[in-house]
Amino acid sequence: MSATSIRAATSADAEALAAIYGHHVLHGFGTFEEVPPAAAEMESRRLAVIAYGLPYLVAEEAGRVLGYAYAAPFRARAAYRYTVEDSIYIAPDAQGRGVGRALLTAVLERCEHLGMRQVVAVIGDSANAGSIGLHRALGFEPAGAGKAVGFKHGRWVDIVWMQKALNGGDADVPAADGLALSGH
Ligand SMILES: CC(C)(COP(=O)(O)OP(=O)(O)OC[C@H]1O[C@@H](n2cnc3c(N)ncnc32)[C@H](O)[C@@H]1OP(=O)(O)O)[C@@H](O)C(=O)NCCC(=O)NCCS
Repeated sequence: MSATSIRAATSADAEALAAIYGHHVLHGFGTFEEVPPAAAEMESRRLAVIAYGLPYLVAEEAGRVLGYAYAAPFRARAAYRYTVEDSIYIAPDAQGRGVGRALLTAVLERCEHLGMRQVVAVIGDSANAGSIGLHRALGFEPAGAGKAVGFKHGRWVDIVWMQKALNGGDADVPAADGLALSGH
C-alpha cells in the first residue's frame, strides 16, 4: 500500500469508476444492479453524494484508480439524517492488498468528522466473504439479513446488513445538524 494514495474522486475518474463498478455489476453479487451504468451516470451519482458533503474517494496507484468508496444517505427521509450507507468496489486485480481497508477507513474517518452516528452496509450475497470480512475487520457488527431478496445470475441472493456506530452512536443527542434530507 505504500505507493497507493487515497484522494477525493473527480469528474476525470468517471470512466475508471464505471469500469470497476461495471465489472462487479456483470460478474458479482455485491451490487444488485444488472446493467453497468455509463460513466456519465457514475458522475451524476458522485455529484449527488458530494452535494451532501459526504466523501467519495478513490485509491490511486501510479496514476491508475484501483478502487473507490463512498458514503451516501441511507434513506431520504429526514430522520435518517445521522445515518449513511457505505459502498466500496475494488478492481478485481487489486483485491486482497489492503486497498479496501484503506479506502473504507478513510470514508469512516470523514463520516465521523461530519457527525454521523451510524454507518450501514447492505452487503449483496451472504457468501460475500470479502465484503463481510472487510466490514467486520473495521468494526461493523451483524445487524440482520434479508433472505433471498435478490435474483441475479440465475439464483436467489441474500443481503447481509452490518452496522457501525460513530461518535458514540445513540449515547446522546447529536449537536451537529446531520444531513440535509428532505426526501419522502
Ligand atoms: C470487498 C472488497 C471491497 C474488499 O476490498 P479488498 O481491498 O479486497 O480488501 P482488503 O485487502 O483491504 O482486506 C481488508 C480486510 O477485509 C477482510 N477480507 C478481505 N477479503 C476477504 C476475503 N475474501 N475473505 C475474508 N475476509 C476478507 C480481511 O479481514 C482483511 O483484513 P486483513 O487486511 O487483515 O487481511 C473487494 O474485495 C471488492 O471490491 N469486492 C467485490 C465488490 C463488493 O462486493 N463490494 C462490496 C459491496 S457490499
